[in-house]
Amino acid sequence: MEYQTIILGAGAAGMMCAAQCGGNALVLDHARAPGEKIRISGGGRCNFTNLFAGPENFLSRNPHFCKSALARYTQWDFIDLVNRHGIAWHEKTLGQLFCDGSSKQIVALLVQELQQAGAELWLSTSVREVEKTTDGFRLQVEREGTTRRLACRNLVLASGGKSIPKMGATGLAYDIARQFGLAMTETRAALVPFTFPEGRFKPLAGVSLPARLSTARASFDEALLFTHRGLSGPAVLQLSSYWREGEAVSVNLIPDLALYDLLRARRQAGGRKALTTELARHLPGRLVEALTPELSLDGNLADQSDARLETLCAALQNWQLTPSGTEGYRTAEVTLGGIDTDGLSSKTMQAKTVPGLYAIGEAVDVTGWLGGYNFQWAWSSGHAAGTAI
Ligand code: FDA
Repeated sequence: MEYQTIILGAGAAGMMCAAQCGGNALVLDHARAPGEKIRISGGGRCNFTNLFAGPENFLSRNPHFCKSALARYTQWDFIDLVNRHGIAWHEKTLGQLFCDGSSKQIVALLVQELQQAGAELWLSTSVREVEKTTDGFRLQVEREGTTRRLACRNLVLASGGKSIPKMGATGLAYDIARQFGLAMTETRAALVPFTFPEGRFKPLAGVSLPARLSTARASFDEALLFTHRGLSGPAVLQLSSYWREGEAVSVNLIPDLALYDLLRARRQAGGRKALTTELARHLPGRLVEALTPELSLDGNLADQSDARLETLCAALQNWQLTPSGTEGYRTAEVTLGGIDTDGLSSKTMQAKTVPGLYAIGEAVDVTGWLGGYNFQWAWSSGHAAGTAI
């Protein structure tokens, strides 16, 4: 069977691409349902874009690469599409837009769009072989127990990254890219919790508070969550994309307060309050309790010298923690790195050295922050390729 375009992966990017290039396009996916990551995203409500999405919210070896696609299909374009489908949405925080109802509405929107454009969707289909011909590509795929031979002029790699193998993530896009001589950047799990030696934060599991987490390369003010395995929450997930093995993370547990000045002033004004009581005004009680032996939080404010208050404030506002690692691809929301953008046109996503080969979405070395940015990249890059084909 011959198609103009075959798209590998019926995820966010692949379906958006099919909706643009439409007629005589085929989308293949080995999963039984399309858009499974969309379905589970945003706690079932899909954080489908971000009001403030811009190139500065993306990591890539070439930070300029994403600019063109993001500018030509913006968050406003996707919001417009969502509105046209009558899907109700709301802003949760920091510009993050979620469905009021269910993330399944976004999957349905994409399936409807690609069908209206005349594209075909084959699920439960595995790719066995891909080869180049003079004017396109030949594929061998397995569907319903039979091997089928397909041909196409354009082949779009839209099968995502390696995050969450249990949900069907594979390295297919990377393998095909390598087969055709495209370079790859190093891949690693991102938007992922930090792990610490067994039991390190066990007594604190479930405690959550606003905090500032920083490394030399980035800093995020968002919620921090202690877990049985280590640290999680938006601030941690964000920072994990910038963190490198062995590096210490600075944790500021009371980011918006001149704590030293405040404690000195309280001491001046009497100081008969227990130090722990004063700290519990700014921190969750369980955290103060757990930190008491570690930081020797004994005595009243009046008992604390300036030097002692300084040490204490440094411990609370610049707590140096070195994660032993991350939870890896098992729970990572995205894969950092991927197909090197140097080998692709930023306008069309077409490979510079292999005419007809395109790469879009998470498979490409463009990774967004937490907060709807990764879907926006999927929509924008899918749109760029789909309209160029
Ligand atoms: P995506 O992974 O969506 O699609 C790839 C498709 O290819 C899949 O359907 C897969 O089955 C298929 N495939 C893979 N290997 C194949 C093979 N060998 N053969 C055939 N098919 C194959 N982002 C965001 O912006 N807002 C959010 O709320 C969330 N929430 C979120 C929650 C969780 C739990 C995760 C894991 C991730 C998120 N994300 C997110 C990230 C977001 O899901 C991700 O960036 C996009 O889905 C990437 O879109 P793609 O289309 O590139 O890949």
